Amino acid sequence: MKRGLKIALVQLAVGSDKAKNVAAAVQEIHKAKEKGAQLVALPECFNSPYGTKYFEEYAEEVPSGETSRALSKAAAEAGVCVVGGTVPERCGSRLYNTCAVWDSNGKLLAQHRKIHLFDIDIPNKITFKESEVLSPGDQLTTFQFNGIKIGLGICYDLRFCEMAHIMAKEGCSLLIYPGAFNMTTGPKHWQLLARARAVDNQLWVALVSPARDQTASYVAWGHSLLVDPWGAVTGQLEHVPDALHATIDLNTVEEVRSQIPIRMQRRTDIYDTVKKSKQ
Ligand SMILES: *[C@@H]1O[C@H](CO)[C@@H](O)[C@H](O)[C@H]1NC(C)=O
Repeated sequence: MKRGLKIALVQLAVGSDKAKNVAAAVQEIHKAKEKGAQLVALPECFNSPYGTKYFEEYAEEVPSGETSRALSKAAAEAGVCVVGGTVPERCGSRLYNTCAVWDSNGKLLAQHRKIHLFDIDIPNKITFKESEVLSPGDQLTTFQFNGIKIGLGICYDLRFCEMAHIMAKEGCSLLIYPGAFNMTTGPKHWQLLARARAVDNQLWVALVSPARDQTASYVAWGHSLLVDPWGAVTGQLEHVPDALHATIDLNTVEEVRSQIPIRMQRRTDIYDTVKKSKQ
């Protein structure tokens, strides 16, 4: 029997009108359900333009804020699991870049705060410091839906192979990363990193980007995609608003893991990757 989870990766156009951004996400959740999706994933920063100067204004609490309430309601009404991309989350005096997941009854199932903040400062070239306004999360996040364990990461988290490896060790068959690579790193690394995480860990990897907006202050690469546990790209969007529908087949996970038994043959007597608990 083919065991599968039908997913939709929704590459939304994001503008400066927060209410419009959220309404568009809700509409796409219902559309995806009509096409058969059981899980709908949204892009990074889908209710706000991407950039440190916007986060304070667009931030809201999770799960009490307006975006959370809208997604929870949409998840329940459509009867789908919603992996709510990311929003700037306000918690006390701090802001986080946060992905909230809603189950098909609208209940909060998981909440991942981006753990690796992207900071660079190359004199006379580019300065971009997320840590000026954001705080980093301090834990890994996995959840279970329809019998499949799913791990979450956000954008830059994708570059850290240990994080993906630990989520795989904990039983994940699918990793979902809302992300927004730029016009330099997108063509160079977006697909390569997705395939690397997939082939190293023998699981499905989904990346969900906002659509490209040439007029935005941060221009996203787009090209949301799905990679199977063999490392093959099974579907990829262009840069325009669109949705990618696919079935996550668990048989492929087992097939790859039995044919290439790296999970059993690691030399943990010589090296290991371990999770530390942070108090
Ligand atoms: C994108 O990010 C890279 C890595 O930080 C940076 O070197 C590059 O200048 C950025 N490109 C654009 C087009 O913003």
